[in-house]
Amino acid sequence: MLYQPNLTRYQQMQYRRCGKSGIQLSALSLGLWHNFGDIDDYNNSKQIVHTAFDCGITHFDLANNYGPPPGSAEINFGKIIKESLSAYRDELIISSKAGYTMWDGPYGDWGSKKYLVASLDQSLKRMGVEYVDIFYHHRPDPNTPLEETMSALDLIVRQGKALYVGISNYKAQEAQQAITILKQMGTPCLIHQPKYSMFERWVEGGLLDVLGKEGVGCIPFSPLAQGLLTNKYINGIPEGSRATRNAFLKKEQITEEKLHIIRRLNDLALQRNQSLAQMALAWILKDDRITSVLIGASRSSQLLDSVQCLQNLDFSKEELTQIESILKS
Ligand SMILES: NC(=O)c1ccc[n+]([C@@H]2O[C@H](COP(=O)([O-])OP(=O)(O)OC[C@H]3O[C@@H](n4cnc5c(N)ncnc54)[C@H](OP(=O)(O)O)[C@@H]3O)[C@@H](O)[C@H]2O)c1
Repeated sequence: MLYQPNLTRYQQMQYRRCGKSGIQLSALSLGLWHNFGDIDDYNNSKQIVHTAFDCGITHFDLANNYGPPPGSAEINFGKIIKESLSAYRDELIISSKAGYTMWDGPYGDWGSKKYLVASLDQSLKRMGVEYVDIFYHHRPDPNTPLEETMSALDLIVRQGKALYVGISNYKAQEAQQAITILKQMGTPCLIHQPKYSMFERWVEGGLLDVLGKEGVGCIPFSPLAQGLLTNKYINGIPEGSRATRNAFLKKEQITEEKLHIIRRLNDLALQRNQSLAQMALAWILKDDRITSVLIGASRSSQLLDSVQCLQNLDFSKEELTQIESILKS
């Protein structure tokens, strides 16, 4: 059946300006790291993308290596676009990245100009799009001069293959240097993509200050700590959950100490009339230096739950203090 997007999608979502740029992103963005590879059910993947778009999510985040196998998430996303979203290309922000191992030999990894330019060409082919909206360097490369990596991003924009560029996993000082170099080249850094959740707080030690000062947006990934900051593991590890499916979230990480914290956070979320997932997302969005939270979902119902975080983004001082004390317990 022909997909018809929800006509009220833009009334349901909030849009936040990305740093000091002209672009606004949906407060929630959908990441295609897991659940969109060839090992996954294509119709379920397609349903998740449609549900996201129906909720007003405009931003879809990919990378060259997402799958498995690497590259297959971009191929499947391209198929979804071709089958049902090509008429809406101008309503979408599509991101891709390069920086991790993608192909054999010395030119398929890290941060050389050779790798980044070739990788984006491959991503465009896989997705069947003429350009991406945002292209990221996925992780810092200690062995390539930062000037070279940034000049690759600058070149890609001048070639018209990306409209904006970003960096991911750069620490505060590295980010500051990259932002300065890009500014000098005339291609401003639009956004930074760091890991950030109640369980992973490193960005608070300087990075958010740099981004705020420089007017660069911030889109935290894994805001639900891959599912830990939801109610799903409270009563055991459900079959089919990420902890049973791949190596990125190991069963051993779900310790009794962690579950104790998760249960207490869940109680607090319920007092706020939220699910734990909603509270964990709202907790990140409370900072106005955050542009969007980058969530994953293995089914549409999770997305519908997560999007409801927008109903309550406010925290009282007491609630924030309580969260800190639970996290330290
Ligand atoms: N730049 C980088 O280096 C980098 C690294 C990692 C990720 N990312 C990006 O960030 C995106 C999000 O990462 P992530 O998938 O780790 O994010 P996440 O939102 O922390 O975790 C998503 C997982 O949590 C569970 N979940 C989501 N919503 C739920 C809900 N409402 N209730 C219960 N469970 C729920 C699902 O797990 P189950 O599968 O168990 O159902 C889902 O797959 C990625 O897709 C990617 O685009 C970027």
